[in-house]
Amino acid sequence: MPPGDKSISHRALILSSLAKGRSRLSGLLEAADTRATRNALAQLGATFIDTPEGVEVEGLGGRMEAPETALNMGNSGTAMRLLAGVLAAQPFDSVLVGDDSLSRRPMRRIIKPLRLMGASIAAEQGDTAPLSIKGRSLKGIDYDSPVASAQVKSCVLLAGLYASGRSHVSEPMLSRDHTERMLPVFGVELPGSCTVAGGSVLRGAALSVPADPSSAAFAALAALLIPGSEVTLERVGLNPTRVGFFRALETMGADIEIEEGQAFGREPTGTIHVRHSDRLRAIDLPEAWVPSMIDEIPALMALAATVKGTTRIRGAAELRVKESDRLSVMSQGLEKLGVEVEEHPDGCDIHGTDTLRSGRVDGCDDHRCAMSFALLGMLCPDGVRVTGSDYIDTSYPGFITDMGSLGAKMSRAQG
Ligand code: S3P
Repeated sequence: MPPGDKSISHRALILSSLAKGRSRLSGLLEAADTRATRNALAQLGATFIDTPEGVEVEGLGGRMEAPETALNMGNSGTAMRLLAGVLAAQPFDSVLVGDDSLSRRPMRRIIKPLRLMGASIAAEQGDTAPLSIKGRSLKGIDYDSPVASAQVKSCVLLAGLYASGRSHVSEPMLSRDHTERMLPVFGVELPGSCTVAGGSVLRGAALSVPADPSSAAFAALAALLIPGSEVTLERVGLNPTRVGFFRALETMGADIEIEEGQAFGREPTGTIHVRHSDRLRAIDLPEAWVPSMIDEIPALMALAATVKGTTRIRGAAELRVKESDRLSVMSQGLEKLGVEVEEHPDGCDIHGTDTLRSGRVDGCDDHRCAMSFALLGMLCPDGVRVTGSDYIDTSYPGFITDMGSLGAKMSRAQG
């Protein structure tokens, strides 16, 4: 506990499949999202062998095989946006499809830079999946992304590996930088920050995936909510572009210690200890922290609901285009549990309460909202029933078991 990092697992599967030779990956997240990436890469010709230590991947040396059918990315935005970058430069046509949620998410943000590189991509109404890609030779790009998005950045960098010349991406605030940190592990040094040289050749490598700070956030939340609890989380990724949630907890006065341990490749990791404290206070979340905790804001909203005072979150409009509109789904669910919330276009104000009420809330098929509500249920007099929670399996299939091992009474609702 917690499981392997989702973002790093997607990238490890993709880069090892592109590499020449064999890679050994351990600690990968085994969940629906990463399975979508692995299945798609297998359709494109990569070979995966499960071993007691992890997965061995026989890479394709940059040249993939034309898939016979559409590639199904399921619920995963990372899978779709990163693979679109890879496929734009392959010498064949491909189609990327996703589930209902993914088919509503904006793809223009990757289509635009890929087209500037010379790619041919068609999408529903120019913006949504299915994406039909006609492989072409691409040219390098200097792209100024309007959003701080690691998926956009990684899409361009992956396409750039197979384009002519250099490709560089700049963004309004630094998003997670796992792609930049992982390329050197596969033998590709970046010639400048967030820059790749076309024609780079990846070589097979050994790589261990740290535990996911985004999943660790839920165990930390459980400990913070329940008096008397304490949890120790080991081997957690401590990449500075991912640890905003733990920083926010410190600012709220949480009893938390972070010890830096050994790095996994170029990813720092460590141990996080969290103890319950009844001295937590509301905060004004600095906007600059949002990119480094973008996936943890539902968990922060759940915690803020139980803390005295008003927690103010702004600069988080991106939450509206995640697996669900997370600002709206979380605000509505919290209100059902008796919490006063004011929604804003790019955030919310949450007025904490010490009297949550029980009820039925809709996780809206969004894993992170469903997990946040499930944990809050521990403080509701008769618990909470979370509908639309099947998607927890996209990132954290062991969630109910792990929370049970911490003492939470949680079960999968029938129907
Ligand atoms: C991810 C980037 C983030 C994040 C997502 C995973 C990644 O999305 O929300 O869960 O692995 O690159 P954006 O790039 O859209 O911010």
